[in-house]
Amino acid sequence: MEMSHARYGRLSRTLHWAMAALFAWQFASVGARVLLPDSPLDEFLWASHKPLGALLLLLGLLRLAWALCEGPRRPNALNGAARLGHLALYALMLAIPALALLRQFGSGRAFAPFGVPLMPGFDGEIEWMTTLGGALHGLLGWALLVLLVGHIAMALLHGRRGGEPVLRRMT
Ligand code: HEM
Ligand code: HEM
Repeated sequence: MEMSHARYGRLSRTLHWAMAALFAWQFASVGARVLLPDSPLDEFLWASHKPLGALLLLLGLLRLAWALCEGPRRPNALNGAARLGHLALYALMLAIPALALLRQFGSGRAFAPFGVPLMPGFDGEIEWMTTLGGALHGLLGWALLVLLVGHIAMALLHGRRGGEPVLRRMT
């Protein structure tokens, strides 16, 4: 279908904006933790960091699967930099929660996001998992935030001054 090149489909758009809202919440919890440690806001928001992060991994995997299904029927990225940027967004969006879940598993503590018994927990600790997750989760999380600032800026700037109105493909 000719039109499908001009615009992302309904499921892609729904996933993109639902996840954008959830990522905003996720980074708000990180922001409160760093800027207002132990405040009521921190305690309120941080309570959702782990379960929401797990949900974001699930949605991210769904989104990746859908992107692979659609393949070339999607609108093409404007240029190589945009394609690379989107690839990096996918890589970080999946690696960050995956590393956190690896660390969570390695800690030996039970984990039941939204009451779903994902990890039963065990005695002891698997050190390489906690070390790897500890070294990379926060670091890559900040890298994603920086990349997102660029992503949002590019999305808003493109289309100004007669360029391709790229925002319309996602709305
Ligand atoms: C896409 C989802 C996620 C994003 C974007 C994200 C982002 C971040 C960021 C930026 C930090 C650093 C805060 C700091 O420097 O103090 C952080 C910390 C943390 N996150 Fe996440 N996170 C996600 C998912 C998860 C999940 C699924 C878990 C656990 C199951 C988790 C557990 C933690 C913990 C325990 C910390 C504090 C220790 C540390 O800094 O590594 N996160 N997260
Ligand atoms: C206000 C926030 C945001 C705006 C205005 C925005 C805007 C856009 C636009 C206009 C596109 C289409 C680009 C094109 O056709 O070349 C796009 C694609 C994309 N965006 Fe965003 N975005 C936002 C937030 C996010 C967030 C939070 C993430 C992920 C963490 C994200 C990840 C992606 C990815 C991976 C693509 C490639 C298409 C896909 O497979 O979904 N965006 N965004």
